[in-house]
Amino acid sequence: MQISAGLVSAAGTSVRSRPGGRQQCSRVRCVAEPAVRPQNGLNGYEQLSPSTVNLDSAVLQAPFQRFSPQPWATANKPIEEASTPPSSWYKSPDTWEYEKESVFSKNWLYVGHTGSLKKPGDFFTGKMADNTYVVCMGEDGELRAFHNVCRHHAAPVANGTGCTQRFECPYHGWEYDLEGRFRGATQLKGIKAFYAKDQALWPIRLETWGHFIFLLFDNSPNAPKLRESLQKGGIAMEAAEMEASDLVHVHQDQYHLNCNWKVYNDNYLDGCYHCSFAHPGLSMAIDVDAYHNVMYEKVSFQVSPLTPPEARPSNGEWDDIIASRVEGDGRGPQYAFVYPNVMVNRYAMWMDTLQVIPQGPNKCQVNIDYWIHKSKLGDEEWTRGVIAGEDQVQREDVSLCDLVQEGLQSNAYDVGRYAPEPESAMWHFHQLVHKDFFGHFGQHVPQYPIDDRIHNVAE
Ligand code: FES
Ligand SMILES: [Fe+2]
Repeated sequence: MQISAGLVSAAGTSVRSRPGGRQQCSRVRCVAEPAVRPQNGLNGYEQLSPSTVNLDSAVLQAPFQRFSPQPWATANKPIEEASTPPSSWYKSPDTWEYEKESVFSKNWLYVGHTGSLKKPGDFFTGKMADNTYVVCMGEDGELRAFHNVCRHHAAPVANGTGCTQRFECPYHGWEYDLEGRFRGATQLKGIKAFYAKDQALWPIRLETWGHFIFLLFDNSPNAPKLRESLQKGGIAMEAAEMEASDLVHVHQDQYHLNCNWKVYNDNYLDGCYHCSFAHPGLSMAIDVDAYHNVMYEKVSFQVSPLTPPEARPSNGEWDDIIASRVEGDGRGPQYAFVYPNVMVNRYAMWMDTLQVIPQGPNKCQVNIDYWIHKSKLGDEEWTRGVIAGEDQVQREDVSLCDLVQEGLQSNAYDVGRYAPEPESAMWHFHQLVHKDFFGHFGQHVPQYPIDDRIHNVAE
């Protein structure tokens, strides 16, 4: 128990039932008289919904364009003639500073999934580039996101994950409700021109797509909605049933990488060029030679037919881990990348997402969430096999990415060349980064064979 002038609090959480069967968590809290008595409105303070807060406030305007990344000399060349962007994009602190604002403050970012917010008060926190955030479900069942920064002296108001009725800042106890509204503080006696309406947590734009929660740290009125940003790529993801309601979230793993976030993306987007060499297990399940890429504005697809049954090994290497990838209706895996920070791997009976969290010029974290078809719920052995198989692939990729970062740090390397067919999605990704850095997009988006399932809905 902590005692301070005017406030006595005892922390603890419990869960109670709400009418209609919904559960709600409650925070046990004893409150003595605040040092400053609210004057009017809710709790006496004049309240203002965060949605009405002036988002153009200079408070949210980050200093911008302090640095310029090194130019990409062959950005306007077709992939067959292009070299990759300079290695400084992958290691320079200046580039990292620049992309925090030009990439991670201007695009919809995947931050988590709806399955982790089931009842009012549920929340999770995170950090994307410089911005810490808290995402929660309000009393009304709506999902909202706020900058996880106390309006007093900038401490985080929430930590980790949990369930609460209010966010109480651990530093000096300022309180905010689930809609971000300021709800009270102690020891403000004598303060002047202090209005609760000006003290709400800063809101962040939030939209969902299927299971996925995206945030946009761009408050400008002409910033696109999520679906406008996904465009035909979103339609293709729906065709691949990546938002299917019969998928249930079952697990998350986290990986810590000593590489720039773009190194991990590049690895994912090389059209399985590396699979035969780096992922012998995965290569048994999918027909690497038939792999092909489809690009949309901010989404790219990698599509792979399954290895024909007659070509599958029968020497004991073919095990349950591999079998889970080919089980189902014969549909081949489809891999979607949503610029800039999430990949969705869809197999017939399961799906996983890779959330890429940049943490500096040469560090990033990848969170992998697993969903399985509800018909597989309870099949622990099968689920373990799925997770073990993907973990194997991730470990192989993590060690490759760390090694690539070491190579990028070397004075001996600056740019490389593309393998034009398999690495077209990687090149497309570089074009998107280039567009965010310098404001224009390459003119040479190549056309590749388009999978029928995608073609039918995307055209
Ligand atoms: S920083 Fe949050 S109450 Fe002081
Ligand atoms: Fe890989």
